[in-house]
Amino acid sequence: MQYKQKTSRRGFLDWLIGLCSAISGAAMTIPSLMYLWPAAQGGESSNVEVPGAENLSVGTSTKVQVGPRAVIVVRGRDGYVAFSAVCTHLGCLVRWDPGKKQFLCPCHAAAFDDKGQVVSGPPPGPLEPYKVKEVSGKVFVSSI
Ligand code: FES
Repeated sequence: MQYKQKTSRRGFLDWLIGLCSAISGAAMTIPSLMYLWPAAQGGESSNVEVPGAENLSVGTSTKVQVGPRAVIVVRGRDGYVAFSAVCTHLGCLVRWDPGKKQFLCPCHAAAFDDKGQVVSGPPPGPLEPYKVKEVSGKVFVSSI
């Protein structure tokens, strides 16, 4: 009888240690997988006015929120271009560097050219482009 009770206690402790090991393993594995997994894509299709875009000088940028996504609008010589500000590596926000004419990600030193293509760094793909429309002097951005 006493032997059976020890076996039962031992079984419970084995089960408890196994459970703790599984939780610890998951706690270490999930962040590792999230690091390796490219940032999830998402978007909104509605037209959003870019406030003050008409006052931007050539080569400068502004940010606007389109649905859940931050979008960078850059005024070029031939008009405006817009890209998601979310880096395709792990989702950090990129910024426009007017001197280099590149989008730079501060997290892992990635660079994207003025067409959103990866120049350097670990991102698996280009920045998501957005559609830009000019109507009566106002600038609107929407997902493609
Ligand atoms: S999040 Fe890693 S390079 Fe942008």
